[in-house]
Amino acid sequence: MKILIIGSGGREHAIAWKLSQSKRVKKLFIAPGNPGTASLGENCAIPAEDVEGLKAFALKEKIDLTVVGPEFPLTLGITDAFTGAGLPVFGPAKAASEIESSKVFAKVLMKRYKIPTGFHKTFEDAADAIDYVDTHKPPYVIKADGLAAGKGVYVCPAPDEARSAVNLIMRKKAFGMAGRRIIIEEFLSGEEASFLALTDGKAVVPLAPAQDHKTVFDGDKGPNTGGMGAYSPAPVITPSLEAEIMETIMRPTVAAMEQEGRPYKGVLYAGIMVSGGRPKVLEFNARFGDPETQPLMMRLEDDLAELLLATVEGRLADVKPRWSPKASVCVVMASEGYPGTYPIGNPIRGLGEAAKLKDVAVFHAGTSMRGGRVVTSGGRVLGVTALGGDIKDAIAKAYSAVEQISFDGAHYRRDIGKKAVKAG
Ligand code: AMP
Ligand code: GLY
Repeated sequence: MKILIIGSGGREHAIAWKLSQSKRVKKLFIAPGNPGTASLGENCAIPAEDVEGLKAFALKEKIDLTVVGPEFPLTLGITDAFTGAGLPVFGPAKAASEIESSKVFAKVLMKRYKIPTGFHKTFEDAADAIDYVDTHKPPYVIKADGLAAGKGVYVCPAPDEARSAVNLIMRKKAFGMAGRRIIIEEFLSGEEASFLALTDGKAVVPLAPAQDHKTVFDGDKGPNTGGMGAYSPAPVITPSLEAEIMETIMRPTVAAMEQEGRPYKGVLYAGIMVSGGRPKVLEFNARFGDPETQPLMMRLEDDLAELLLATVEGRLADVKPRWSPKASVCVVMASEGYPGTYPIGNPIRGLGEAAKLKDVAVFHAGTSMRGGRVVTSGGRVLGVTALGGDIKDAIAKAYSAVEQISFDGAHYRRDIGKKAVKAG
């Protein structure tokens, strides 16, 4: 089987790594890929947003399955374009991916179908939003409606910050049209988890729960990022809570999308807040999480190609993925300044030494080649991921690999996985 993976981050490297172990996969292409994926398959220099270019490539190469990593091509309708051309593709159609690309759509859907989430109000006018802040008590959760690479969410403990967030999104247009509308949402306290499930539109199959670390600094401080590290399993999701999430959130959401005439196929990712033992949805994503996919791929014992094909071909009814009982931890090494502006082109040292470590995989995210060397080229640079006998062991292995690697300005959180140790 020939597979094309679209994207260039740590998620796509981890997917390529897992697919490269499948007996069914004869050839892997990654568009555009990164220096990490180049060692597993053939990178092709087609941007993830070039739907027509990717389609032409897939037709020419007779690709058996295309796996869409990031959200943006989904919102451009890559799945619709490929399906129309008779090309099998993993990822929801454009209309279904709106569950991620519009927070207003997702909130209205949840309200209509009684899927547990915090209450919200939608604003199209900055003055109205500021008026709401002035007449309501903190904390405030302010979110741009559209896609903002995980950075369009502001949790504001004070009115001043909330007013600044509204101004930034709606008046200064920090996220362009994505901030034309915002929602102000009920603040939910508790512990978060990332709950992903494969669905063929009918059957819904949970993946192992994971936990992300959204903020840039230790102790969950500082601004939100795309994710600074992740681990799996996530002890906060007990078996009974998993059953509740499937019953009250995942299955009803897939059924709701069908009801709305937007049948959902692919991976559905629910960001969950567990509060007082009960789950509520913070957001939905229409794709695999990044970095969560990195520890998930290390724990998955089944053939990923088979799972993705079963999803695309509507054969998930009897599927139950098997997971290693071991724990996996991913520590993201980021560029100085991320999630704000950051320099690029800094040479990365120690990748060879880290690669020699057992049970460690260093997934590339924001890297490129320059003069024969791997250099930084993004905010999140590497996902240093390890498998260990338990969470403590996985943490120790991941950080000993991190210590082998360096680049100017590198920063990473030192507390990835700590919550799981406490829980255990
Ligand atoms: P989202 O992209 O919507 O998941 O938001 C990013 C992060 O902001 C989440 O992972 C939470 O840490 C935080 N967040 C989002 N919504 C809320 C909420 N209603 N209450 C508290 N924290 C939130
Ligand atoms: N790690 C969060 C996300 O993939 O959206």
